[in-house]
Amino acid sequence: MITLRFYKSIIVSAFFFLAASNTIAQSTSTIPVEKALNLAASQYQAYINQQPDSNWHLYSINKNNEVKSVTYKDWTSGFFPGALWYLYRFTKNKKWEDDAKKWTVSLAPAEWVTKTHDLGFILYTSFGNGLNLIHDSTYKNILLQGAKTLIHRFNPVVGSIRSWDGGPWHYPVIVDNLMNLELLFWAAKTSHDTSFSHIAISHLNNALKYRFRKDGSTYHVLDFDPRSGKLLASKTWQGYSDSSCWTRGQAWAIYGLTMAYRYTHNKKYLEYAMKAANYFISQLKKIPDYIPYWDFNDPAIPNTPKDVSAAAIAASGLLELSHYQAVPKSLYYNMAIKILQNLCTDKYLAMPGSNYYFLLKHSVVNKHSNTGVDVPVVYADYYFLQALWRYKNYNTLSSIQ
Ligand code: GLY
Repeated sequence: MITLRFYKSIIVSAFFFLAASNTIAQSTSTIPVEKALNLAASQYQAYINQQPDSNWHLYSINKNNEVKSVTYKDWTSGFFPGALWYLYRFTKNKKWEDDAKKWTVSLAPAEWVTKTHDLGFILYTSFGNGLNLIHDSTYKNILLQGAKTLIHRFNPVVGSIRSWDGGPWHYPVIVDNLMNLELLFWAAKTSHDTSFSHIAISHLNNALKYRFRKDGSTYHVLDFDPRSGKLLASKTWQGYSDSSCWTRGQAWAIYGLTMAYRYTHNKKYLEYAMKAANYFISQLKKIPDYIPYWDFNDPAIPNTPKDVSAAAIAASGLLELSHYQAVPKSLYYNMAIKILQNLCTDKYLAMPGSNYYFLLKHSVVNKHSNTGVDVPVVYADYYFLQALWRYKNYNTLSSIQ
């Protein structure tokens, strides 16, 4: 009798401990993390062997099936060094630290570039990951300067940071831009200068006002009048149509709003992150392997390309989202795991020495303009490695960051 009560109390205490500490019991064998890391090590070493100039950052392939690398001016340039930092974070092998440093410092000129809103993507994935691991003060200064440069693109009348300078727009603000706010939140936290966070919060609140449709899907491009701040149109650039949901944009929304909640603890952002996630998951449930097509509303589904990059971004975002109190934890966690398990099958994960120098196959850059359709892209690999890190270290919230 005493023994039974004793065991019962142990089980009950363990239950409350696990619930209170956000711990999820993991089966470590479900995702082949080591296999993915070995692949990353061999693919990235092969890339570095043939392209030792660290001014060139692995991006994708072009129409002639040649590897495409970019300089610090491209929005994707931070992902290759970011992936190297994850490889170092996982392995603690000094060789990857040295390579990550080399491919990071070549991006330093980006701290002054005012022509892009993507300084968060470029600098935070490279210098941000590096700073987290090696605490180099020059990295900190470059990030702070990058944040100062980025806020030049903020128009207080619109209340948002401008995305693109060209195109048929008046003042375009795209869903992807939520991701660049991490640089500003980090800068506010580090420098105690709240002008960075005020701008990020204004941008976010505008996003909540106009970005979402009733069903939780998002518009890609919001075009504002820069003089009055009025919303002129809700459009797409990379999606199937203005009224469809571009899959990667929805993944940026999940990740970006979850990140915003991490920095602000504002429940409104968590609520909207869940809205974005719930829509994404409702669409994935219609797809047998849970890897989405490039647009959730392309009428050609299932005879249309998948976008693995959206799957990887969403998996990483969902793992963080599932960590917070007051969310349906297992819904988000289990979906992230299903995505990762499928990404680790031969259909999506490359064999060493194949798929150029990339880990994942089958992403889409821009189907609308027929650029990079069914290709490997470095941002799919970066968020895949990050998701694996978040999975492996799930029970410590600080490793999510
Ligand atoms: N941020 C550009 C893209 O997702 O294609």
